[in-house]
Amino acid sequence: MLAQRLIERKRDGGRLSAAEWVALSRAYAAGEMTDYQMAAFLMAAFIRGLDRGEVGALMQAMRASGDSLDLSHLTAGRIDKHSTGGVGDKVSLILAPLVASQGVIVPMMSGRALGHTGGTLDKLESIAGFRTRLTLQETRRQLEELGCALIGQSDEIAPMDRRLYALRDATSTVEGIPLIAASIMSKKLAEGLTGLVLDIKRGSGAFIPELDRGLELARLMIDLGREHGCPVVALVTAMDRPLGRACGNALEVEEAIHALHGDGPPDLMQVTYALGAEMLVLGGVAPNTDVARRRMEVAISGGHAAEAFQRIIAAQGGDPRVVDDPSRLPQAREVEIFSAPHAGVVSRVEPRAVGRGIAALGGGRTRMDDAIDPSVGFVIRARPGDVVRVGEPLATIFARDEAGIAAGMASLAEAILITDEAEPPLPLVSHRVTMGGVEPYDGEPWVRTAEFPVFVEPR
Ligand code: URA
Repeated sequence: MLAQRLIERKRDGGRLSAAEWVALSRAYAAGEMTDYQMAAFLMAAFIRGLDRGEVGALMQAMRASGDSLDLSHLTAGRIDKHSTGGVGDKVSLILAPLVASQGVIVPMMSGRALGHTGGTLDKLESIAGFRTRLTLQETRRQLEELGCALIGQSDEIAPMDRRLYALRDATSTVEGIPLIAASIMSKKLAEGLTGLVLDIKRGSGAFIPELDRGLELARLMIDLGREHGCPVVALVTAMDRPLGRACGNALEVEEAIHALHGDGPPDLMQVTYALGAEMLVLGGVAPNTDVARRRMEVAISGGHAAEAFQRIIAAQGGDPRVVDDPSRLPQAREVEIFSAPHAGVVSRVEPRAVGRGIAALGGGRTRMDDAIDPSVGFVIRARPGDVVRVGEPLATIFARDEAGIAAGMASLAEAILITDEAEPPLPLVSHRVTMGGVEPYDGEPWVRTAEFPVFVEPR
């Protein structure tokens, strides 16, 4: 009866009290509310929305459905980063060891690939033996010893969120901003954080492409954090082209390793440093983002970040030798160059087409339980704005077999658009959002290099 009453109320645009959100969560956990009733409720909530009080109550009900990491005995700041996801986004792999090497504790909880976007857990699991399923006790011990753990959402953390997310995924109700904010923050706050940095992606390859909706999500999560004593800072970053060059699980780990050795592509490093600087300041180890950035540069040039990654891999059962020898990562059997079909300017490298291409090669998922091939993907050298000659190599395809190469060729032909002129892409980091509001990002809003020869003015 409770389920029907609450479905009816939400369907008609009403609101639930905090006690009713708890009752709903308990009824579902106890099996007194069926999956089809919850799916109907979620669709009503998706269409009608939740008011601010309801978002907080849902988040709290999901958080309370499991345990929390109690790290209050650790004096150092405990900071995580969450990205709304994209293509080629391997920032977490670099950021976690880099920030941890500076004395901030980083309990980094990540997700898996779904749809056109990649997932940090899948990338990490391309390292032989790497375990992302740590118990809370193992996570706590590793954080005490190493200051960093790279984990997935276990059954212990916000299990109600896990069940609701699976239902939302199957019923096209993932994209609701109140539901997303409650879902992400229920897990993040269960990590016992003292601060959180958000990477809100915008552009055609982002989960939420529109800037205004991305900002709405950022503001809501910042406010949920405030309510629970966890300061949250968000940066808005570009996902109208892939980040870095490598797209695909093992290929992205390799690019992250090169970045940790000081050889990362400029766009990837710019986003990594921007987010990392916020983490170091929130974590209390740097007075401002300029100092933070210099510290990170030294951590990379001095080898401390790469060593931290090696220690984390070893602690989680993986082969730490990949950090010195990335050829130990899974290697694709077939490799082929994709060349420019005609001369012109690269006007788009469309991330959704690249992401779908990785899935077509066997490196992504359409369902949560699909197996993935870690070795496949693309390394795309072409960047928006490059002037190219006919036949010039633009990308490399890594595939299991000849059919994969053909699928990769078709995907890149769709993804890489060559025209007579090009619009500038979105600025890599465009906005910074805090409790105080939204400001233009002035850290380093635009880097003009020889890679972008045809642009006149940044937007
Ligand atoms: N990621 C999450 O963890 N939850 C959502 O609802 C959407 C993305």
